[in-house]
Amino acid sequence: MRQEAGKLVILDTDPGIDDAMALLYLRAVPGIRLHSLTTVFGNADIETTSRNAAFLAARFGLDLPIHVGAAGPLEGERHVPSLKVHGADGLGGTGVASGTPVPRSTVPAWQHIADTISANPGRVSLLAIGPLTNLALALRHRPEIAAQVHEVVVMGGAFGTRGRHGNIRPHAEANFFYDPRAADEVLAASWPVTAVGLDVSADCILSSAQAASMARCFGESGELLWAISRDYADIYRKFDGIDGFCIHDVAAAARLASPELFSVQQAAIGVKTSGNHTGNAYRSADAMRPVQSFCDGVDSDRLISGFIDIVAAFVARDAASERIETT
Ligand code: BDR
Ligand code: CA
Repeated sequence: MRQEAGKLVILDTDPGIDDAMALLYLRAVPGIRLHSLTTVFGNADIETTSRNAAFLAARFGLDLPIHVGAAGPLEGERHVPSLKVHGADGLGGTGVASGTPVPRSTVPAWQHIADTISANPGRVSLLAIGPLTNLALALRHRPEIAAQVHEVVVMGGAFGTRGRHGNIRPHAEANFFYDPRAADEVLAASWPVTAVGLDVSADCILSSAQAASMARCFGESGELLWAISRDYADIYRKFDGIDGFCIHDVAAAARLASPELFSVQQAAIGVKTSGNHTGNAYRSADAMRPVQSFCDGVDSDRLISGFIDIVAAFVARDAASERIETT
């Protein structure tokens, strides 16, 4: 099935349960044309996240280039948390992607990002839903892309809305924490960044009833999302008392497709790169830093119902096209 013309998007991702949901959303939503996937360490090691990206793309009928990216942060060792929220395999411990080969690309993620932006000046939207290492490497190698990109949307950070400052640490959101130097460099560059952080993504909760209904009604895609999210839902139940789970990365994807669902603030933003508050996003007083945007409000009911409706319409279209092909 062909996707409609629209925003040309490179998705930089570390699948990841909510990454999987964001990928399905981007596959389904009108007005987005996925150009390629780039992978990064984060929710699991780079081999695993890259294998998962290949598995998910095939599963959702996406024939896209996949470029493997950074295995660790710009500085220091990769942080491996004791609690693996996304499971040891990044997909809820299901092992669903275990038979999928790791994609092999001769062009690394950062180079693919830079080449694509330079070849399509003013047209490429970058959506990053993992640690920002590939984006920072692209900027370090090819700083001119800052003036050539259309927009940059990142899932990351927490700016204190309703007391939200972190998830992996009390003061730090996971994607920024995993590579704080990269996050700081991406936010310091003169390109238009919108950060979709915990301020809004923590409001975007897919309830257990909604997830169960998607599993019942949305065929193989719904069943897959249900299977990979069982342990994830248990963790939210145990630690946050929520009957459901946050779909952080879907929120960032929705910012691209439906920006009207969000309110934003403008500020120069820095990310702490050392000390007790490593990974913390703060409003910077540095006059040399560009003003960036961060989301401070979301119509979460519309975002969640939009996610469900968009996937429903896609699944129905897909089933209809299969029926036509087999008759
Ligand atoms: C972010 O970290 C990862 O666990 C999720 O996939 C999301 O991108 C949320 O803090
Ligand atoms: Ca992610």
